Amino acid sequence: GLPARVRIHEVGARDGLQNEKTVVPTEVKAEFVHRLAAAGLTTVEATSFVHPKWVPQLADAEALFPMLGDLDGVALPVLVPNERGLDRALALGATRIAVFASATESFAKANLNRTVDESLAMFEPVVARAKADGAHVRGYLSMCFGDPWEGAVPVAQVVRVAKALMELGCDELSLGDTIGVATPAHVGALLTGLNDRSIATDAIGVHFHDTYGQALANTFAALQHGVSTVDASAGGLGGCPYAKSATGNLATEDLVWMLQGLGVDTGVDLGQLTATSVWMAEQLGRPSPSRTVRALSHQ
Ligand code: HMG
Ligand code: MG
Repeated sequence: GLPARVRIHEVGARDGLQNEKTVVPTEVKAEFVHRLAAAGLTTVEATSFVHPKWVPQLADAEALFPMLGDLDGVALPVLVPNERGLDRALALGATRIAVFASATESFAKANLNRTVDESLAMFEPVVARAKADGAHVRGYLSMCFGDPWEGAVPVAQVVRVAKALMELGCDELSLGDTIGVATPAHVGALLTGLNDRSIATDAIGVHFHDTYGQALANTFAALQHGVSTVDASAGGLGGCPYAKSATGNLATEDLVWMLQGLGVDTGVDLGQLTATSVWMAEQLGRPSPSRTVRALSHQ
C-alpha cells in the first residue's frame, strides 16, 4: 500500500536556482522561500554554503539565511560540503544540514574535486560536529542510477556509499537520480538493495530529476515500496551545474497533483503553490516546465 502522508522536501530554492545563469536577487529568493512555506511546504531547502566560485547563484547564502528567521516551524536545510561550509551555516544558526556524496568517481571529482572516499573523509568531521551541535543531517547520494560519464551505476556500488553515509551518522539519505535516467524497476531494485543492507525505508527519501519524463513514475514506484519522503522543486526548476544533461527536478505541483488523486496527504495548497511558480517563472523570464503548473495556470 501507499503511505498515508508524504513529506515533500522542497528543493526549488536550492537545486532549482543553482543552475540559473542570471543571479536572482536575494530578496526574490527570500520571497520565494516564504511563499513556498505559506503554500504548506514544511521542509524548504534554502541554499548552499559551498564555494561561491563553484555555485555563484548561491553566493548570497549569508545574506539570505537570516531573512528566513521568521519562518517558525519550517525546516530550512542547507547544503554544506565541508567544515568551512559547516562553520558558515552554524554561525547563522542553521539546525539542518545536508552533505552530498556521489556513487560514482566521475561526479565526485566534478562536483567536489575529490574521490568518493576522499569526499566521505571530508564529510566525517562535518557530520560529527553537526550531530554534536544537535543538528539534523541529510546525506545526499548522487548518480544512484546512471552517470553521464560512466553509464549505468551498479546497485552494489550505490549501496556501498549509502552505507558509508549512514555510518557517518546521517539521519536520512536522499537517493539522487541526478540526470533523470532511472526507471521504476531500477528504483525498486535499489530500495531492495538498501533494505538488504539494513538501511530502513523510513530513513530514505527519493530525489528524481525529470530529464526523461520518468520522475513521477519513479516516485510512484518508491511510494509503493514504502518511501514517504519525496524531493521536488516548485515549478520543476533545476539541474546540477556539474552534471551535463541534468534538467529540472520532479515538479512539486506534478507530485501534489498525483498524491491528491491517490488520497495521500501532503499539507500543500496546490493553488497557492502554482501561483508561486507562475510568479517565479515571471522573475526568471520563461514559463515553468511543470505540466501541472501550465494546466492550472493556462500558461
Ligand atoms: P576545492 O577547490 O577542492 O576547495 O573545492 P578546497 O577545499 O581546496 O579549498 C579552496 C579554497 O576554497 C579555500 O580558500 C577554502 O577556504 C575555500 P583559500 O584557503 O584557498 O583562500 N572554501 C570555501 N569557501 C567558502 N565556503 C566553503 C568553502 N570550501 C572551501 N564551503 C569544494 C571543494 C567542496 C569547496 C567545492 O568543490 C564546492 O564548493 N563544491 C560544491 C558543488 C555544488 O554545490 N554542487 C551542487 C550541489 S550537489 C547537487 O546538486 C546534487 C543534488 O541535488 C542531488 C542530485 O540531484 O543528485 C544534491
Ligand atoms: Mg538534484
